[in-house]
Amino acid sequence: MLSSKVSGIVCTLALSSAVTAVKLGDSVIGSASEKQFSQEFPENYNILKFHGGNGPYSERRSYGISRDPPESCAVDQVIMIKRHGERYPSPSMGVDIEDSLAKVYGAGITEWKDDLAFLDDWEYFVPNKCWYNAETYSGPYAGLSDAYQHGTEYRDRYGDLWNDESVVPIFSSGYSRVINTARKFGEGFFGYNYTTNAALNIISESAVMGANSLTPTCDTDNDTSTCDKVPSTMPQFKLAAARLNAQNSGLNLTESDIYNLMAMASFELNARAFSQWVNVFTQDEWVTFGYLNDLYYYYCAGPGDKNMAAVGAVYVNASLSLLNEGPEKAGPIFFNFAHDTDITPIVAALGILLPAEDLPLDRIPFGNPYVATDIVPMGGHLTIERLSCNATAMSSKGTYVRLVLNEAVVPFNKCQSGPGYSCPLADYNSILKKSLPNYLTSCKVPKSYPQFLDFWWNYNTTTRLNYQRGPISCQEAETLH
Ligand SMILES: *[C@@H]1O[C@H](CO)[C@@H](O)[C@H](O)[C@H]1NC(C)=O
Ligand SMILES: *[C@@H]1O[C@H](CO)[C@@H](O)[C@H](O)[C@H]1NC(C)=O
Ligand SMILES: *[C@@H]1O[C@H](CO)[C@@H](O)[C@H](O)[C@H]1NC(C)=O
Ligand SMILES: *[C@@H]1O[C@H](CO)[C@@H](O)[C@H](O)[C@H]1NC(C)=O
Ligand SMILES: *[C@@H]1O[C@H](CO)[C@@H](O)[C@H](O)[C@H]1NC(C)=O
Ligand SMILES: *[C@@H]1O[C@H](CO)[C@@H](O)[C@H](O)[C@H]1NC(C)=O
Repeated sequence: MLSSKVSGIVCTLALSSAVTAVKLGDSVIGSASEKQFSQEFPENYNILKFHGGNGPYSERRSYGISRDPPESCAVDQVIMIKRHGERYPSPSMGVDIEDSLAKVYGAGITEWKDDLAFLDDWEYFVPNKCWYNAETYSGPYAGLSDAYQHGTEYRDRYGDLWNDESVVPIFSSGYSRVINTARKFGEGFFGYNYTTNAALNIISESAVMGANSLTPTCDTDNDTSTCDKVPSTMPQFKLAAARLNAQNSGLNLTESDIYNLMAMASFELNARAFSQWVNVFTQDEWVTFGYLNDLYYYYCAGPGDKNMAAVGAVYVNASLSLLNEGPEKAGPIFFNFAHDTDITPIVAALGILLPAEDLPLDRIPFGNPYVATDIVPMGGHLTIERLSCNATAMSSKGTYVRLVLNEAVVPFNKCQSGPGYSCPLADYNSILKKSLPNYLTSCKVPKSYPQFLDFWWNYNTTTRLNYQRGPISCQEAETLH
């Protein structure tokens, strides 16, 4: 374990044992390990930031802006969309992983060596095919506990917005793991009152929902040529394949096997506390893997796809109406649950995190603002806060808006004149009214489909859907139960 290639982890362990040693010998004064703030930045590296959308949640790397509202302001409305929590691989990713594992185990190797020595007593973490697609439930990064814990944290942060009496709707797209996330989050947020005071509304993912959806589709988006060009390997993977093949004679892994095994490693952490597979690959190889994920989201579900901003405009436009109506008219709390590829279009529609030019396919533009793990890790979420602020020396009394992505404040482009780099609601409105593409025309939505998002105003207050009834089926996907 000490020969781990992930030196960030080793450094952290070494650092904490140094601190302990100093505490034990308390005559040591002014030693470096007593500094309040460490001056070390171990390669500015945390392996969780290189797993793209596959690995455990990690907060967005912030610009340093305080997460709490500035002293002069209070949040009076919150609108959040959260991706489901940590999960097992999809069935199609599972096929790729199983193919590459079959090559590993089919190589006729009786004694594993070097980087793969741990394989003598390793087992695949997906017990059987039925678990593909499902939220994970074990280990410190389990999806179900992510959702529950997030709910309790938001109760702490936004609990004042609930009057302890009313029934509050929460909204989930109609996909099993998303529904499970919404339910666990609701149990966390409402605590003992979940059964009676949350009303889960399940919004079908079907295309016939048109714009009245958390998962709008774009029928004209049949041009997948840009997305199709996104590579799934880069030269660094050749090094990994050559290294592993040389260490274990008979092994014949390719670059795509390396991609599959790295993806598997990131998923392993969703179900287990520790992944030996993560340590099989070097930091540089993980940097490559992370960027390939950035490319995927950028070109297949983000601003690099010509229709995605229009898809995301549905949510941005409707949330603008909530912000303008304010908590008195519209209500103070809107918690929504969907997928990663429903959040990246919203980020595109807002026009934030855009690189200066389209991401190159053949090299990594270091410093790239479009980093998948900082946008949609498992459990990733975008929170829009409406702030009611008193006058300050720099700003007038009024209503402001802040975007918080994975618990880090992201200023709304050039509009940051308010307290805490927030944007005055009036300016937020006028900027978006000008820039938002039209979903209906861009995506040629049939006239017979709903033409705007309506469920935030017309929701059910029944608690009938708050719990799963009956067993969850094998590789469950769409369900209303
Ligand atoms: C704004 O000012 C009013 C009146 O002084 C005060 O009651 C309120 O708490 C202030 N709001 C914030 C967020 O400080
Ligand atoms: C919320 O739960 C607590 C604890 O069970 C209970 O005392 C309170 O009456 C509940 N509130 C509502 C509105 O049901
Ligand atoms: C896109 O593909 C779908 C399904 O294959 C088809 O029904 C639709 O007509 C296509 N739209 C365009 C604009 O080509
Ligand atoms: C390794 O696999 C490649 C194709 O992936 C194949 O062309 C080559 O013959 C294989 N080598 C051995 C030694 O099996
Ligand atoms: C924007 O939202 C408003 C209010 O929800 C709605 O009436 C309007 O149709 C929406 N526009 C588009 C293009 O979705
Ligand atoms: C409310 O319930 C009705 C009846 O089950 C259903 O048709 C409708 O889609 C529900 N609305 C929402 C927003 O879930």
